[in-house]
Amino acid sequence: MQNEKPLIAVLRGEARDIPPIWLMRQAGRYLPEYRELRGKIGSFLEFCYTPAVAAEVTLQPVRRFDFDAAILFSDILVIPHALGQEVSFESGAGPRLEAISEPAHLSRLREHFDVERLAPTFETIERVKGELPNSKALIGFCGAPWTVASYMVAGRGTSDQAPARLFAYRFPAAFAELIARLVEASVSYLLRQIEAGADVIQIFDTWAGVLAPTEFEKWVCAPVKKIVESVRAKKPDVPVITFVRGAGGRAPALARLLGADALSLDTSIDPAWAAANCSNKVALQGNLDPLALVAGGEALDRQIDSIVLALRGHPHIFNLGHGILPETPIGHVTRLVERVRAGRG
Ligand code: CP3
Repeated sequence: MQNEKPLIAVLRGEARDIPPIWLMRQAGRYLPEYRELRGKIGSFLEFCYTPAVAAEVTLQPVRRFDFDAAILFSDILVIPHALGQEVSFESGAGPRLEAISEPAHLSRLREHFDVERLAPTFETIERVKGELPNSKALIGFCGAPWTVASYMVAGRGTSDQAPARLFAYRFPAAFAELIARLVEASVSYLLRQIEAGADVIQIFDTWAGVLAPTEFEKWVCAPVKKIVESVRAKKPDVPVITFVRGAGGRAPALARLLGADALSLDTSIDPAWAAANCSNKVALQGNLDPLALVAGGEALDRQIDSIVLALRGHPHIFNLGHGILPETPIGHVTRLVERVRAGRG
């Protein structure tokens, strides 16, 4: 029987002529309806933890563009927050955390991760589920341990994640402990999202690409694999997408190793090469350059067509290679969805 949600059908291995489409970071500042609601609540975390508002902004992009999936509105840094770290978001400056700059600082974190601290998020999921049409999938998510740890250690976003890389070299045992705690917290957080109604899970490892091979193995591959396996053990029917940004030539090996249902390709990866080197059992998601979507016009059309063509015959979910940029014109998103659905590639 055909799955009524195109996104799930593809994650189960079906190649479709018209790929399902959604965009990473599809809820956000490029949408006037988002900015209007965001202006009413001062703190970003409070915005995330108010279920009526978070549910509304989760649904906004699906209503406007008819995407095949909604992604839960929250942030990857709610896990450090629930672990007891101070987290805030300053407008225009990004996240600010109380940095874990030496091993002793790990004792500031709560001994026990209580997933119910994130109860508003589960209520958001229940609300979205009540309103989302049957043909649309609801994606739950978490940050991968390495990416989350990179913010916890630096206390902010950095261009090269040097503070966390140095911490991991200098204090490998303490860093391993931090990663293990994030694995455990992420698994219970994802399982609870699934219980609340998430149909699919995506794990974001945005900063994986900066690591040396031995470090990549320890802090990206092993923890993400453990999360995928632990979620799968309890919820075998819920597909998992992994976004390991900067995986480069390691992508086909990751597709085998992680055991995920889909690999989300960043912009730098040639989709034809990925399709030729990854098993048909692993769906590929991606990988339009977010700047092509800002530019629009010919450049956008050409890139859309070449991605659709390269991944035809392979289970494919159309997406960006990274999150949508705030300056993206809305008309370009409409054009993207129309063009993908016209099946021209
Ligand atoms: O995808 C969605 O629309 C759902 C919500 C979502 C947000 N963040 C909302 C958000 C998701 C899935 C994320 C993931 C996230 N958060 C990642 C991984 C994916 C990626 O894009 O690389 C990372 C690294 C973060 C950490 C984070 N959160 C940063 C660095 C920032 C500030 C810079 C920025 O992107 O705006 C945030 C804040 C944030 N998270 C905003 C939104 C809509 C902007 C806050 C605002 O409204 O001012």
